[in-house]
Amino acid sequence: MLSVSEVTSRGSYEECQTTADWLRSNTQIRPTVGIVCGSGMGGLAEMLKDPQAFKYSDIPNFPKSTVHGHAGQLVFGTLKGRPCVCMQGRFHLYEGYPIQKITLPMRVFKLLGVETMILTNAAGGLNQDYKVGDVMVLKDHINMPGFAGINPLAGPNDDRFGVRFPCMSDAYDRKLRQLAHDVAEELGYSDFLREGVYCVLGGPSFETIAECRMLHRLGADAVGMSTVHEVIVARHAGMRCFALSLISNRAVMDYDSEEKANHEEVLETGRQRADQLARLVSTMVSRLGNDNNNSF
Ligand code: HPA
Repeated sequence: MLSVSEVTSRGSYEECQTTADWLRSNTQIRPTVGIVCGSGMGGLAEMLKDPQAFKYSDIPNFPKSTVHGHAGQLVFGTLKGRPCVCMQGRFHLYEGYPIQKITLPMRVFKLLGVETMILTNAAGGLNQDYKVGDVMVLKDHINMPGFAGINPLAGPNDDRFGVRFPCMSDAYDRKLRQLAHDVAEELGYSDFLREGVYCVLGGPSFETIAECRMLHRLGADAVGMSTVHEVIVARHAGMRCFALSLISNRAVMDYDSEEKANHEEVLETGRQRADQLARLVSTMVSRLGNDNNNSF
C-alpha cells in the first residue's frame, strides 16, 4: 500500500534538494552519469566499482519499488573511472504513484550534477523484423499517456528546473546513438542492435491484439511501460538522454497466434542478454567526453 505522503508529494524543487543533500552527505561520489536499469537488467549496477548502495526505503522522499525483478536501490560507484549513479529498479505509473513521483529521481540526479542519462527497459517488439533478444536504440518516442494529459511536467512549471514548453524533437541524443552503433560494431553486436520508436503505455495489463496493430500503424517499433516520463523530465532539466529497449517478447499481432506476453519471459530475456548489454553501456560510458571535440 502507498502511504498518503507517497500519493500527495509532487517532487518539488525543495523535496528534490532535500533528497540530493541527503545523498551528498552520505557519499563522496559526485556522479556525472545516471543509469536506469530496466526489468531483468539490474546487473548493470553490478559493474560499478567501489559501490555504495542506498535502499529506496532509506532515501528521503524516494518512492519504494514494488515490482518483482527490480532490486529497489540506488547504487553509486565508478564505471571505467567515471562517477555514476545507477537506479537498480525504477518506478512505473501502474504502481499507482503520481507521475511526478515516478520521475523525481531525474531531478535529484540533475541536482547531484548528472549531465548524461542512460536508460534501459524491456519492451514488446511491434516491428515484425525484430526478434526476441534484439536491442533497440530509441530514436524517438510516442507518449500515449501524454495524449490524455498525463505528463510529468503538467502543473505549475518550476523555472529552476527548465522551461514551460520544452522541445522534444531532440529527446534522444544523436551523438550518443551514433556512439552506440560504433561500439556495437566493435563488440560484434551489430546483428542484434536496432534503432526505432518506443511507445509508452500506462500498463499494467499488456496490450490487446487490436492495440498492438494500432501502435504499429502509428509508427511504433516497440511498446513498454516506462522510460518516456523519465526522459521528458531529464530533457526538461537539460540532461542528455540515451535509451535502449531489450526486446523481451514479440507483441501479439495475429488472432491465430497462441503466444502470450508474460513478465517471466521479460525477466528471462533480460538475464540472457544482461552481460552484453552491460558491456555495451560500460564501453559507451568509457568513451563519454573522450572524442576530439569533447562532445560525446
Ligand atoms: N508490452 C508492454 N510492456 C512490455 C512488454 C509488452 O509486450 N514487454 C515488456 N514490457
